[in-house]
Amino acid sequence: MGQFQVSLFLLLILAFIYGVSSTTFTIVNQCGYTVWPGLLSGAGTAPLPTTGFSLNPSETRVIPIPSAWSGRIWGRTLCTQDATTGKFTCVTGDCGSSAVECSGSGAAPPATLAEFTLNGANGLDFYDVSLVDGYNIPMTIVPQGGGDSNGVAGNCTITGCVAELNGPCPAQLKVAATGSEGVACKSACEAFGEPRYCCSGEFGTPDTCKPSEYSEFFKNACPKAYSYAYDDGTSTFTCAGADYVITFCPSPNPSVKSATKGLQTESVSYSAATLNVLPTLSVVFSMVGVLAVAFWAV
Ligand SMILES: *[C@@H]1O[C@H](CO)[C@@H](O)[C@H](O)[C@H]1NC(C)=O
Repeated sequence: MGQFQVSLFLLLILAFIYGVSSTTFTIVNQCGYTVWPGLLSGAGTAPLPTTGFSLNPSETRVIPIPSAWSGRIWGRTLCTQDATTGKFTCVTGDCGSSAVECSGSGAAPPATLAEFTLNGANGLDFYDVSLVDGYNIPMTIVPQGGGDSNGVAGNCTITGCVAELNGPCPAQLKVAATGSEGVACKSACEAFGEPRYCCSGEFGTPDTCKPSEYSEFFKNACPKAYSYAYDDGTSTFTCAGADYVITFCPSPNPSVKSATKGLQTESVSYSAATLNVLPTLSVVFSMVGVLAVAFWAV
């Protein structure tokens, strides 16, 4: 390869790094137990470097996200691997892949879901935490940096469900493992299958599908999370150019207290120390870029 081709090649790598991986998700486990995050990319969007992994208590994982990604992230709990068959299964949030990687399969409800559409309308990222498919774990999304896009205001605030609801879950919705200890909480749609809870059939529009006593249980505990299918107005958030911290069990320890408070006050500056690999990578690749330009000039 001549110098010209080398420079071109390096510049292409640079463009690839900046163009394809523009955002990071930092996934944090503050639960006192292991969580196995599952990640599902929406149809037609770029795949992620991982579709599932295990995250120990206090562990953090940073994942580079393609620029126009859409999809969802959830937490699997109480997972085990069968000693003889090697089959991996989880009591909640299982994706049916029989492995730690979900490989294109989604969560079995009930599961708390973090949903994203990055670089959507007006260049805004849309995100929400949904309890429409039920609840299995407390979870928040905190945007870091970011703001408006093309003059369209993003609301860029924390959302999620900080409350622990497996215990207080109404009896008709409760999922118990062995004994009576709750491990998840179904949506009314899943528990009863009725159109008025599922917003289907004659209840298939925002005008006809209203909150129910069951969706109110979720909404009262977690006012910013989706509690039923047409809960958009108070549950969808937007931001542009942000990175996102997704935390399981954002318990009231000092670094998260302000974030938890933000769920009531709407304003929060989240400053959890998180390892961030990408800035380092960016520096490295900027240097590669400068070198490439230098070669180019030769
Ligand atoms: C956030 O902003 C978007 C528009 O950018 C709006 O549709 C949505 O309702 C807002 N969400 C909240 C909870 O205010």
